[in-house]
Amino acid sequence: MQFNHQSAVVTGAGVGIGFELCRRLVLDGASVILNDIDPHLAASAAKKINEEAGADRCISIAGDTGEIEIIKSLVGQAVERFGKLDIVIANAGITLFGDFLNYKPEAFYRVLQVNLGGSFFLTQQAAQVMKGQESGGSILLMSSVTGHQAHRNLAAYGMTKAALEMLVKNLVIELSPLRININAVAPGATLKERTIGDEGYEKTWSRITPMGRPATTKDIADAALFLVSNNARHITGQSLVVDGGWTSVSPEPF
Ligand SMILES: NC(=O)c1ccc[n+]([C@@H]2O[C@H](COP(=O)([O-])OP(=O)(O)OC[C@H]3O[C@@H](n4cnc5c(N)ncnc54)[C@H](O)[C@@H]3O)[C@@H](O)[C@H]2O)c1
Repeated sequence: MQFNHQSAVVTGAGVGIGFELCRRLVLDGASVILNDIDPHLAASAAKKINEEAGADRCISIAGDTGEIEIIKSLVGQAVERFGKLDIVIANAGITLFGDFLNYKPEAFYRVLQVNLGGSFFLTQQAAQVMKGQESGGSILLMSSVTGHQAHRNLAAYGMTKAALEMLVKNLVIELSPLRININAVAPGATLKERTIGDEGYEKTWSRITPMGRPATTKDIADAALFLVSNNARHITGQSLVVDGGWTSVSPEPF
């Protein structure tokens, strides 16, 4: 129960990596605000987690993390219901594929709003609370290998993920004196509800990933939860790539 008596907010957590993060935090003792833009998904995810944990420590709050009012309510509700805020994981991120030459401003600004704005302002609101806590807090941003390597049709998305990694470095200056550490995890291809059972996806990523398979949500959660745990209390400003070695090798000439 390494997160016993801790309070957390995780965004974009109705399914996928965010869901696994909330599930593991609750099973390990934390009280969690689970956010998703889809109200039904948010509610059913929290119910599922509470049933598995035999607890009532997962509360769903639906809303778009691109909206500052939602962000304020996630942080405000965590403090109101749990009395403090120890861990924040800005997990919500959207991928709007498209070639650069025809990419639409609406898509561009939406990707920036959710991936950058959502993470930036959630971090800001959380830090405002954490700075008043003796124990400070821990913040994690969800990056991607596409912030490290070029990926076709993902110029805007990859750009936001690279920017998030600069943000965690930059914020070391202002957040360290407040006893807040901030890091990022950069997942590679990760199997989730949408891609489990997609034979092509799993086969392709198993072929091109040095470790021979895509990541599972557990692989990503293991790394992410380490970075928000007490074991990582002296680690800040770092980005941890979890990709089975994919970004370490260049295409081979044979
Ligand atoms: N799955 C992967 O292969 C992969 C790889 C690298 C990075 N990532 C990153 O990890 C994070 C989670 O990815 P995933 O694939 O598990 O998520 P996902 O795409 O499956 O979405 C998870 C949830 O986020 C919700 N969501 C979308 N927009 C939202 C918003 N504006 N506000 C609140 N909720 C919103 C969706 O409704 C969904 O239920 C993202 O930041 C993503 O960019 C994922």
